[in-house]
Amino acid sequence: MSGPGRGDAEVAERVDALIAGMTVAEKAAQLTQYFYFGPPSEGNGQAAAVEAALARGQVGSLLFVTDPAEVNRLQRLAVAGSRHGIPVVFGFDVIHGLRTIFPVPIAMAASWDPEAIEDGQAVAAREARAAGIGWAFAPMVDIARDPRWGRIVESAGEDPYLASAVAVAQVRGFQGEGLGSPGRIVAGPKHFAGYGAALGGRDYDEVNLSDSELWNIYLPPFEAAVRAGAGNIMTAYMDLNGIPAAGNRWLVTDVLRDTWGFGGFVVSDAQAVHDLRTHAFAADLTDAGARAVRAGVDMEMALGDPAYAHLPEAVAAGLIDEKVLDASVRRVLTVKARMGLLDDPYVDEENARTVLADPAHRAAARTAAQRSAVLLRNEGGLLPLAAPGSIAVIGPLADSRRDTLGPWVFDFDLDETVTVLQGIRDRASAAVEVGYAPGIRPAHRTFPSMFDMFGGNAPVDPPGFDDAAELARAVSLARACDVAVVVLGEWQNMSGEAASRSSLELPGGQLALLQAVVATGTPVVLLVMNGRPLDLRWAAENVPAILDIWYPGTQGGAAVADLLFGDVAPGGKLPFSWPRTAGQVPVIYSHTVSHDPRHQDRRYWDEASTPLFPFGHGLSYGRFEYRDLTLDRDHIQPGQTVTVSVRVTNTGERPGDEVAQLYLHQRHGSASRPVRELKGFARVTLAAGESRTLTFPLGPAELRYWNAAARDWVIDTTTVDVFAGGDSTAALTTSFTIGS
Ligand code: NOJ
Repeated sequence: MSGPGRGDAEVAERVDALIAGMTVAEKAAQLTQYFYFGPPSEGNGQAAAVEAALARGQVGSLLFVTDPAEVNRLQRLAVAGSRHGIPVVFGFDVIHGLRTIFPVPIAMAASWDPEAIEDGQAVAAREARAAGIGWAFAPMVDIARDPRWGRIVESAGEDPYLASAVAVAQVRGFQGEGLGSPGRIVAGPKHFAGYGAALGGRDYDEVNLSDSELWNIYLPPFEAAVRAGAGNIMTAYMDLNGIPAAGNRWLVTDVLRDTWGFGGFVVSDAQAVHDLRTHAFAADLTDAGARAVRAGVDMEMALGDPAYAHLPEAVAAGLIDEKVLDASVRRVLTVKARMGLLDDPYVDEENARTVLADPAHRAAARTAAQRSAVLLRNEGGLLPLAAPGSIAVIGPLADSRRDTLGPWVFDFDLDETVTVLQGIRDRASAAVEVGYAPGIRPAHRTFPSMFDMFGGNAPVDPPGFDDAAELARAVSLARACDVAVVVLGEWQNMSGEAASRSSLELPGGQLALLQAVVATGTPVVLLVMNGRPLDLRWAAENVPAILDIWYPGTQGGAAVADLLFGDVAPGGKLPFSWPRTAGQVPVIYSHTVSHDPRHQDRRYWDEASTPLFPFGHGLSYGRFEYRDLTLDRDHIQPGQTVTVSVRVTNTGERPGDEVAQLYLHQRHGSASRPVRELKGFARVTLAAGESRTLTFPLGPAELRYWNAAARDWVIDTTTVDVFAGGDSTAALTTSFTIGS
């Protein structure tokens, strides 16, 4: 944790002076964070209780407040309530924007563009900071290999190398040069650790990971985020190999602090310390609080009834040494000091209005949505659209502003949200007729989402919707137009936390709608609005153009129109292997070589076992060829670096974007290693006919792996195959040797 601002010694002195004057109860208060769903009203006892706790000086942090005026009001209560005048730090789920909503995180990962990712989170940080929020519960850096898990939408997908690059970019975007940078906030990578591997893809269920998976796959993005200077880490909800993450001293202290040198503060996930008792781990709340603090969890995120309220009892009973408590308080107060909160905890409400309305933020969101779209298929070059006279826009999601934004947003402005329909209407010239028909009513979850308590979260059936008539209207509109743009996917409340599902099918009547539109013979462009891969087997054979637009955010529709009309070229690539069907999951590109590698595609008798689209896949409006894969040497010793070069040429007729990818495979060694592992990538824009030579260094960081037998990092004496190309099936190859 480095950065500008006050010197370390000055901060330490100030913090120690405060701690010296605090009672144990006051220390416990600094370690307690409450949700605040205010303002208080009749029936909202929660807000009233939190305000009473603030007035008694019992709160260290609040979450879920986004209104600058409320931030100031609550902060005044906190400062007046604390005997030492210590303010609270406001945290929030700033996941993909605060007011200006960027594409969902899985979409940003699909851009394979760390710069765009950093820029996006810098905008989010600027808006949050202006509103008085000092800390984001983001990025989520959990590896997600099971798309049934709803939170794959918040992840960077299946691969640790890509996810680490994305994690670093996000931490930099949130924090800038370091804690206390103007207009930046604390980043809180989460959920430490292994949360994405929930049994059966069922959110919150237990996780059991082998030593090799943990070190080689699930921990690297956290380590990368820590090395990038993240000021906070959030622990996970579930049991990892039988030990709840919030009580797991090995994870939080041995690995995070002692091995990686993390110097920031650790927060639990919501209610997770309290839940150490629910997990049948802690005996009671006093035991839960004591064990979490001893594990290294500094702050408890509480829905109510915090276990940390029992810390004074725990200290009195000798369950925690007060010095251990002091260390936690020191970490929290240090962040408050570094963020400047101890000097000026209030926000300028007028400035907040200006910052939140900054048009530059909208422009950045539009660029991000352009760069995150993935062109999955484009038979016959249907895209970009060649001056159609009429366009049929079809599907309920095409005109849903709330769904265009995606899950995990609360402070958005629907009025400034551009749907696909609106974007196409704005971009098409007056001579082009644009018609719209939803075709079907929205699909619904079987069980409601916990976020449906926020108004407008669940889709609503249009009143008087006549199913047969609407389907017929959509079909005749498609028949009458030159091209049909069909928008299908999941409604946003079907994706995210507590939004796991047992199938990957297009929900509701969407496949039937698509089939009816395709049957008209009008060329169809399918736009997929999603946070997880869906079963597109029929579309992949019958629809000429498929563009994955994800939940593209505030400017989503405008960006989609830019792509459809060819103002910009798509260049995103899949951050996960796209399964054919849920029965296949988890399916990953980096599996090891099996007993029968020749039949890797026939592991099931009823369906191919390969993905529908491979990891790293994505087309553009150019066409790319790779050649001249060379190495600066063909033999190295462990610890040395070899540099790979490859020449990429756009052999198409239009400019385009390509993400060049580099994969390694180790032929033999002290463990079986994956058939392919991503170890380098670069996104480039090339004009028609243009070439570029790209270089990728491969050093100890890329060549080492955790060996479960040695229980250590190793670099083997071996031969390493190198593959370069536009996805994880790249054929161009060379090799080098390591060792004697
Ligand atoms: C629970 C989620 O798991 C976590 O990601 C989030 O930051 C907290 N709730 C706060 O909303």
